[in-house]
Amino acid sequence: MTTTDASGLPVADLRSIPSARGWPIVGVAPQLLRDPLKLVSAVMREHGELVRLEGLNTYLVADADLVRAIMIDDPQSFSKNPETMKKISPAIGAGLSTLTGAEWSKHRKLANPVFAKRNVSTFMPIFHRSIRETIAEWDASDGQIVDVTAQMKKLTLRIVIRCLFSTDIDAFSHEIMTSLQTLQHYSVYRLWSPLQLPEYVPTPRVRRYKRAKAFMERMVDRIIARRHELGHQGPDDLLSLLMAARDADTGEPLPDEKVRHDIMNMFLAGHETTANAVAFALYLLAGDPAQAERLWREVEPTEDSDLEYEQLLSLSFNSRVFQESLRLYPSSWAMSRVVLQDYRFRGQLLPKGADLLVSQWCLHRNPRYWRDPERFDPDRFLPERLEQVHKFAYIPFGAGGRKCIGVNLAEAEGRMILAMLARRYRFELTSKTSFALVARLFMSAEPGIALRVSRRRPQ
Ligand code: HEM
Repeated sequence: MTTTDASGLPVADLRSIPSARGWPIVGVAPQLLRDPLKLVSAVMREHGELVRLEGLNTYLVADADLVRAIMIDDPQSFSKNPETMKKISPAIGAGLSTLTGAEWSKHRKLANPVFAKRNVSTFMPIFHRSIRETIAEWDASDGQIVDVTAQMKKLTLRIVIRCLFSTDIDAFSHEIMTSLQTLQHYSVYRLWSPLQLPEYVPTPRVRRYKRAKAFMERMVDRIIARRHELGHQGPDDLLSLLMAARDADTGEPLPDEKVRHDIMNMFLAGHETTANAVAFALYLLAGDPAQAERLWREVEPTEDSDLEYEQLLSLSFNSRVFQESLRLYPSSWAMSRVVLQDYRFRGQLLPKGADLLVSQWCLHRNPRYWRDPERFDPDRFLPERLEQVHKFAYIPFGAGGRKCIGVNLAEAEGRMILAMLARRYRFELTSKTSFALVARLFMSAEPGIALRVSRRRPQ
């Protein structure tokens, strides 16, 4: 009998995986560090959906069947790489998104109820108040050019802080944003730079990183300590839920240090991602007045009231615009995994120990899965059309056990911001609308997206 692999092909027919070579020794590492989106797009175009990236012991994965195997079908063969996570957790926290193995699984069980869907609707008043604050600022500068990326980052930071801590720390928002940027830059350097100095060498980069880390830790520690002082009188927010959560086996709460690591993870995972999704949606609408008009017609009747959760869910075109924005501009442009045991896929061998870069950027724009993939077309998310698309060709929030824990919160928040802004303003491209896509841990527009923002109804 012939032995077959996971895809049913005979093991004997082993084929080699194509390779992107780059420079001697360092391979494509310098290009990955300089412009990852350009590199992965070119590599996929030239070599296909499974490619070895020389110099990094890493494989680019953009094949939806293989993604399903990695994320869902074969969890025993793949996981997040503990070694990779160790490189970045000093900067972004050893919390939910960076833990691995049994420690992660215990932690995730404890945190899941904190983010359960039933809690999302309780955040609506925070969304309304925070978005109205942005609206008040924009009304005052009607018709001006606005950096919508920066504005959305400010707004989502305010929202995540209010959801986590029920407090305002606007006075520190600039320092928080720059610290988070520094921590992200430093993580990418630790991940991919072929020339790394040890952390005890006090280069300007290391000094900036240590300052940012110390600032964030001090701030979060102070908030946790204050919450202990308040005891049961503390507000009902994500921090309280996290501090009140108990391990199912031991009944123990999370130690403060772990809570701090989780909070650091959530700051980073939960603010820039949502901000970018909305900023790109506004940009896409600005470039397509017909779709913007369609959205306006859907949301305009709600203009004079705060949108309730159920109402928000019923705005189907608004939802499709948000989905399409995350397809074209996935904030999480790639996810990293490691191969735990030799794995055969369509007659090719992924060797044990290899790192994988599972790229949403490549999946979401691959013409094999999407007709006219570069086109902004929210209707591709109509149920009857989506049915035709491979389920794992669209994974802005990941998939399987490690799927984004904040997905419900992020979708509700992003869609609410989009609806409340789209019903009030018209967005236009201007000669200043010019940006580059920059991919670090997340993908963003740099400099931010500059759009003209004008009231639809005169004041
Ligand atoms: C549009 C917004 C967002 C996008 C596109 C996004 C995307 C993702 C993706 C793709 C993953 C999986 C990474 C992987 O498997 O390697 C993830 C995980 C995670 N996200 Fe989000 N996210 C968003 C918003 C949020 C928010 C609002 C929060 C929390 C406040 C959050 C917290 C997390 C955490 C803690 C994890 C790690 C989960 C785990 O590994 O168990 N995210 N996110």
